[in-house]
Amino acid sequence: AAAEGDAGDLRGLRVVVSAGGTREPIDPVRYIGNRSSGRQGVALALSAAERGADVVLVAAHVDDGVLAAASARPGLRVVRAGTAAELGTAIAAEAERADIVVMAAAVADYRVAEVSPLKRAKESAPVGGITLDLIENDDILAGLVRSRREGQTIVGFAAETPGDGETLLDRGRRKAARKGADLLAVNEVGWSKGFEATDNAVTIISADGEVIGARRGSKDDVAEALWDAVRMVRESRAK
Ligand code: CTP
Ligand code: CA
Repeated sequence: AAAEGDAGDLRGLRVVVSAGGTREPIDPVRYIGNRSSGRQGVALALSAAERGADVVLVAAHVDDGVLAAASARPGLRVVRAGTAAELGTAIAAEAERADIVVMAAAVADYRVAEVSPLKRAKESAPVGGITLDLIENDDILAGLVRSRREGQTIVGFAAETPGDGETLLDRGRRKAARKGADLLAVNEVGWSKGFEATDNAVTIISADGEVIGARRGSKDDVAEALWDAVRMVRESRAK
């Protein structure tokens, strides 16, 4: 739940949050997916509704049970999307009326070039292995930034695995500069970090790399910190 002082601070604002992992079909029974549970995005949507916003949750694949809490919530509408392309279409439509858009979904960077209408069979494949051709998906966040309206706030997430001579924040700052979103929530992921975990740790930076906030805690705590940061940048811009 929101802290006392925060109750209702997003009232009157239209918020769109994407959550979960997209799934890119290979054939009717297989897909390329990722480990996103949707928990952080759903926590963001619930917390925004709690703080008074009118919320649309654009949900890609979200773990069973995680979405149930959101579906029953007044002030929150759920739109489903399967692939990155579907998510992009849904977000673009919802963003037209939105004051704040948060891209918490784990969007597939690539899709399968030729989706087979029939289940692929080994019988009709080369012996020993196959190659799948992949095509890069549109960057939804970059598109939102390009079409950002006056007064609209765009927020991205960056899941990074550090360890190649660069700190998490360095990588985050490069991504923030590249993406141009008003805020980027940078979090460390790894084999046992970030995804199925109930806890999360993020550093929230502006497009020019300034640290606006940081939070380690439950995904609810991180959600509250993110809305605090959003409110801060909106207030500083309104001056
Ligand atoms: N994102 C998006 N559309 C894509 C890929 C990512 O909107 N096709 C969004 C994610 O929802 C997230 C942000 O961009 O808010 C950063 O995603 P991330 O995967 O960290 O960045 P990429 O630019 O895809 O770079 P890379 O995966 O190579 O690190
Ligand atoms: Ca990516």
